Parts: sequence; C-alpha cells; structure tokens
Amino acid sequence: MKTWKSVVMTTLLFPLMACGGGNTQSQTASETPQDSETNQVIETIMTRRSIRQYKPQAVNRDTMQIILDCGINAPNGQNKQSWAIRVVDNPEYINGITEVYKKKYPKMAADPDFKNMFRNAPTVVFIANDKSYDMSPIDCGLLGENMVLSAWSMGIGSCCLGSPIRFMQTEPEAAEYLKRLDIPEGYELLYCIAFGYPDETPAAKPRDVSKIKFVD
Ligand SMILES: Cc1cc2nc3c(=O)[nH]c(=O)nc-3n(C[C@H](O)[C@H](O)[C@H](O)COP(=O)(O)O)c2cc1C
Repeated sequence: MKTWKSVVMTTLLFPLMACGGGNTQSQTASETPQDSETNQVIETIMTRRSIRQYKPQAVNRDTMQIILDCGINAPNGQNKQSWAIRVVDNPEYINGITEVYKKKYPKMAADPDFKNMFRNAPTVVFIANDKSYDMSPIDCGLLGENMVLSAWSMGIGSCCLGSPIRFMQTEPEAAEYLKRLDIPEGYELLYCIAFGYPDETPAAKPRDVSKIKFVD
C-alpha cells in the first residue's frame, strides 16, 4: 500500500511541478516538495479516512470544543456563519433514535458490528444550513472539513453522514428526535458528522486525479 508521502508526491506534487506549478509565484523556498513530507497539515489531510467503527467512549467535551472552534473558524461567505450546530453525545438520544431506525431497517441492525445508526459513533454533530443564503451549504461543508481534520490531527476519527439526516427528515417516528435538535426557523439539517476514537484503520479509497485540469 502506498504511504501518504508517496501519494502526495505522485498525485499532488509531481503533477504540480510537471504543469509548471513549481514556479516562483506558487512555491517559495520554504515550500519545497521535500518540506511537504514533514508538513503536519498535509499529513493530516492525506491520512484521514472515514471511520465507521469506534471505541465506546464519547469524545470529551473539552476536546469537542476545540474541534468545534476549529469548525467555526472556517472560511464562510461574508462571515455570515450561516450554520447551526448541534452536538449530541447523549446515549439516550443516540440509542433512542437508533431503535426507530432498527425497526425500519432490521437487516442493517442484524449486522454484528452494528451499534448505532451514526456509523456506530458515540458523538454526533448535526449541521444545519440557512435556507435563505445560497452559499450556506458551502459554509457548512467547510465548517465540517475543519472539524474532521482538526479531530484527526488529535487522533479522533469521524465520518460525514447524509443518510441519517434523510431518515430523520422523512421518518415520522424520528420526528421527536429532529425536534429535540431545536433547529432555528429558516434553517434545515444538511448533514451530520460522527466522531469518536477509531476502532478500525480503513485503507484509503482511490481518488481520480484526472478530475483536475490546469487551464492555461
Ligand atoms: C456529504 C457526505 C455524505 C456522506 N454520507 C455518508 C453516509 O451516509 N454513510 C457513510 O457511511 N458515509 C458517508 N459519507 C462518507 C463517504 O462515503 C466517504 O467520505 C468517501 O467514501 C471517501 O472515503 P474517505 O472519507 O475514507 O476518504 C459521506 C460523505 C460526505 C462528504
């Protein structure tokens, strides 16, 4: 398996250099490909994976607060901070809504590794966007990426999740759990992010470098 360093070199840095990205405008003396091998931000980005098996303990709230602070420091349109964020680490909530989910999807629940509908995580951050602002989903996405990366840099795994939100918005029996999130008027749940201490080490999924084109 390729290491993150070789992935960086082959998918990021060599193409950049070959396409002339390594000129003086975009690369200073302190930003050489060699330096990128020890760059902590690049390491965090390249080693992060979605985690779907977690140790039982929730992430403590002080640590979650750091992750959330990183989230709200994301770039966002006009600094509107067009998100609403709800953090749930209450097992009663997570297990309660999972019981509703299990009734609807008994086959999923039959999986011996199934612990809850949030990919088995003990902590879930729900993110809602401002429906009146067209850039709000982008704000919310960047917020989430900051959280995911800051978490990973501290050894905390995560998984962005869309399917539990669809379930909560469409399943009448889940309505009380949606209501408990107290999403403000004019906002709508967009996605959630599961957090916890990883109990698996999944391999990287391949990325399609051909999606990138430099336009001259
Ligand atoms: C908007 C969004 C929604 C996602 N929804 C789900 C989901 O419902 N269930 C799930 O297991 N993973 C979900 N994922 C995780 C992706 O499957 C995962 O990020 C992708 O396969 C790439 O793998 P990696 O994160 O390990 O690099 C979602 C990711 C994003 C960004």
